[in-house]
Amino acid sequence: MEQRINWSDLSFGYMKTDYNIRCYHRNGSWGELELSSSESINIHISSTCLHYGQEAFEGLKAFRGKDDRIRIFRPIENARRMQSSARGVMMAELPEEKFMEAVEKVVKLNERFIPPYGSGASLYIRPLLLGLGALIGVKPADEFVFLVFVTPVGPYFKTGFKPAPVCIMHGFDRAAPLGTGSIKVGGNYAASLVAGAKAHDAGYVSVLYLDPKEKLYIDECGPANFFGIRDNTYITPSSSSILPSITNDSLIRLAGDMGLKVERRPIPLTELSSFEEAAGCGTAAVISPISRIDDLDENRSYVYSSDGHPGPVCEKLYRKLLSIQTGDAEDPYGWVHILP
Ligand code: PLP
Ligand code: COI
Repeated sequence: MEQRINWSDLSFGYMKTDYNIRCYHRNGSWGELELSSSESINIHISSTCLHYGQEAFEGLKAFRGKDDRIRIFRPIENARRMQSSARGVMMAELPEEKFMEAVEKVVKLNERFIPPYGSGASLYIRPLLLGLGALIGVKPADEFVFLVFVTPVGPYFKTGFKPAPVCIMHGFDRAAPLGTGSIKVGGNYAASLVAGAKAHDAGYVSVLYLDPKEKLYIDECGPANFFGIRDNTYITPSSSSILPSITNDSLIRLAGDMGLKVERRPIPLTELSSFEEAAGCGTAAVISPISRIDDLDENRSYVYSSDGHPGPVCEKLYRKLLSIQTGDAEDPYGWVHILP
């Protein structure tokens, strides 16, 4: 039966779609893409992904334009980052072409789930790479499965593009200084659950993590990178324990082209009080403006918005990014992959 979806009411949740795609790596090589309409996979109980977290994932989005064409935002960057994650936890690297083919196929096959232009929703694409096989020692698997499914989504933080508070808790890290923070593996997210739940219970949308080595610098904002705006400058952390965000990379470019200066460097905690605007950014989070950062251990607050409105630079960046993603604005960067 045809489902009726209320597109403008979607949250960031899972909805069953028609198809997903799988591809197995066995005996040293990748097989063919396989289409499936099942929401389950059948894997060995001793698979390394289950016991030792040998897995990686990605997140990207497809948008329907006013011209009804489907645009996928910077998929090649996700293909490359998944290869980097694979190297980081010793999994087979999926060739970029195979990643692109799978993503294109799964989006096309689930076209009826791509939200209409103007709904504010998009189709979230979730590629996964899992270590399989009957192993019990801690060592890399010799079989892998790559799979991609999609689901239509609304904003990640239920506040959407409205400033919301985040908190700093000095007693939690999501990743180790030289650990896996710079790749997209499940363990980082498991490690963030306790702090995330505490933050939510206390009324915050996310945790703003400090660098895990010295606790002196800003790292990232839950499942999003952090940036601050001051004196017409876009300032974002460099750190070995944060994920290199494709959204942040795009905003850096847009900010530069809008005439802002850009600084990518360690941001001392003490600098938070000097920002005029602050936000998290990511595929799911897009730009999530921060109203206030509460440092729960030092009993300090940094306020960026108290009238419920995002700052002017966040607003401008948000509009520009979205208009490129949906095709309303030109894409001089070659970011948008139009579905053939
Ligand atoms: N940081 C973390 C920890 C994330 O999970 C994500 C989401 O992918 C990001 C940052 C943002 O990265 P991107 O803009 O590539 O989605
Ligand atoms: C994304 O922004 O795509 C992410 O992967 C964040 C996710 C943990 C919800």
